[in-house]
Parts: sequence; structure tokens; C-alpha cells
Amino acid sequence: MSALLEATDLRRVYQVRTGRGPFTAKASLRAVDGVSLRLEAGRTLGLVGESGCGKSTTGKLVLGLIPPTSGTVRFMGEEMPAAGSADWRALRPRLQMVYQDPLGALDRRLPVGIQIMEPATIHGTRSPIERRERAAEVMTAVGLQRHQFARYPHELSGGQRQRVVLARALMTEPDLLVCDEPISALDVSIQAQVVNLLLDLQERLGIAYLFISHDLKVVRQVSHEVAVMYLGRIVEQGEAEDLFARPLHPYTRALVSAIPVLGPRRERLLLQGDPPNPVDVPPGCAFHTRCPFATTACRAELPALRPVVGGRQVACHRVGEPALQVAA
Ligand SMILES: Nc1ncnc2c1ncn2[C@@H]1O[C@H](COP(=O)(O)OP(=O)(O)O)[C@@H](O)[C@H]1O
Ligand SMILES: [Mg+2]
Repeated sequence: MSALLEATDLRRVYQVRTGRGPFTAKASLRAVDGVSLRLEAGRTLGLVGESGCGKSTTGKLVLGLIPPTSGTVRFMGEEMPAAGSADWRALRPRLQMVYQDPLGALDRRLPVGIQIMEPATIHGTRSPIERRERAAEVMTAVGLQRHQFARYPHELSGGQRQRVVLARALMTEPDLLVCDEPISALDVSIQAQVVNLLLDLQERLGIAYLFISHDLKVVRQVSHEVAVMYLGRIVEQGEAEDLFARPLHPYTRALVSAIPVLGPRRERLLLQGDPPNPVDVPPGCAFHTRCPFATTACRAELPALRPVVGGRQVACHRVGEPALQVAA
């Protein structure tokens, strides 16, 4: 069976200035460096990793919002058409994006109802009356009241605004939603509501999510599969419950051990320092500068992402070695 979304060996390189002033050199920044993903209909793939590791760029690449430097994206078995082309525009209603900042994503001067209808207006998929009906439908689906149609963004709470953004994304009955840090800008008290809403919408409508977040706790709640990124590459990927219960890559282990939990203390693996400069990625395994288990081989040779056990893939030279076990 072909996947809903299949990305193969995606790369995106940016040319960036490395200093200040007009005569500075340019360097290549590999924002995404050989990422492959697969997402089935109605499922959620969580994409995690520290800020700057390439999550948002990956999200934009899979939607065709930016072209890859190399690699391919297939949606429903077909190659993603070039951004801006007629074929791409025809496909766009099937793919929507939800960003972190609902206020930034909305136009302050327009009633939210008009903005919710917008995708259908742009794609001309429905008559004006059908659009109104559909807007009322999606507003109900996300827990907004019909009278809020005429409200302006600033008249709503942060949680309600994110519901507006979601309603707008649902307008065209998408098969895939890329959610880029969809709850990070919300108060903790309403984060759970929006997470539950996303879960509920998936169950009722069968939408697939690429769920991007630096918050592992939330990713754990929503994801079927998880991919962990470090400096533009996937270092571990697998079934969510299993991955969180038994992370294998030292980077994933460090991220997981930093999740606050109740109950018995688990492994404590502290992440030292910040990720390296992405224009100057360390040779070999990019994580070696922060890895307590790094050897000479890790400093010299890039580990490939390879199957380990139970569908898990890990990019680590030392995965599975008894020496990597630390006392809980
Ligand atoms: N348009 C751009 N031009 C130059 N560099 C970029 C651009 N977009 C992203 N980057 C760089 O690519 C890397 C990955 O960025 P991003 O995908 O936004 O990471 P994340 O979403 O995980 O925080 C970062 O180092 C970022 O500075
Ligand atoms: Mg981001």
C-alpha cells in the first residue's frame, strides 16, 4: 500500500553569511540533510528535536511550500508538483499547515469567519452558500460558537484563535495537516484542550498529522510514530510508545530523560551545552561533541540510519553495546 506521504532523502541547503559587514564569506547551511519520512493516512508522525534542527524546514518541504535542494516528496503516490504550479494549487486543499502563533497567522482587520472561509474562497471549491455552511460546520467541529463568526482575532482568547486557525485548515477537508508547534504559544492551561481537539478531529475525520514540536511530552500524547532530528538529520525513528519507553540513540535518551515524570526515577542523561553551529557541523556523527559515549569512530564516520529492532531505526555506531547501559 502506498503511503499518504512519502519523503525520500530530502535536502535543503541555504547560503548564509558567516559574519557581519558587506565582505563576509558565504557558507552552506544544510537545514535538512537527507531526511526520509513515511506517513500513513489517519496517523500521526511526531517530529522532535531542539530548536534549529530543521523541523520547520522539513514541514515546509513536505508541503511543497519550499523546493528541496534534492530529494522527492510523494503525496498519495504521486510526485509533489512544483510549488506555485497549477497542479500544486489543485493539490493544496488536501494539505494544510497550522503554525505556532495563531495571532500572526490571522489578519487582525478581518472577522474570523471570513478568514475561516478563505481557503475555500481561494480554491473556489464551493458556492458562497456552501462556504457559509461549511464554515459553520468546521466552527462547530473545533468548538467555536456560530456567533463568533463576526468576531475579530483580538476579541478572542489565544486558545480560541488557535481553534480559528484549525477551523480554517479544516475548511477544505484536508488529508494531511502539518502542525508546526501548534500549542507552544498557548497558555499551559489550554494546551491540553487543543491537544484533545486534535486527537478528536483525527478520530472523527481521519486526518493525518505531521506534528512538529520540541515538547516531547506532547509529542508522546499525539503520535503513532516519532522521528528525532539532530542538525538536519533523523537520528532515531520508530513506534512512539516503544521509542519513549526505550530510547536507543544517546540523543533521544537525553531528550527523554529530561521529560518530567512522576514515579520511579529513570535514566538521567544530561545534555551538555547547545547544538553546534549548523554551518559548521562536526564531522562523523554530528552528536559526538555532546555524546558521553563517543569514540574515535564516532568522530570520523557518519553513522547511517539503520534498522535495529522492532521497526526502530537508529543512526549510532554504538547502539546496542552493553557499555552504553547506564544505571537507572
Ligand atoms: N530561509 C532560511 N535562510 C537561511 N537559513 C535558514 C532559513 N530557514 C531556516 N534556516 C536555518 O536552518 C536551520 C533549521 O531551521 P528550522 O527548520 O527553522 O529549525 P526548527 O524548526 O527545528 O527550529 C536553522 O539553522 C535555521 O537558522
Ligand atoms: Mg521551527
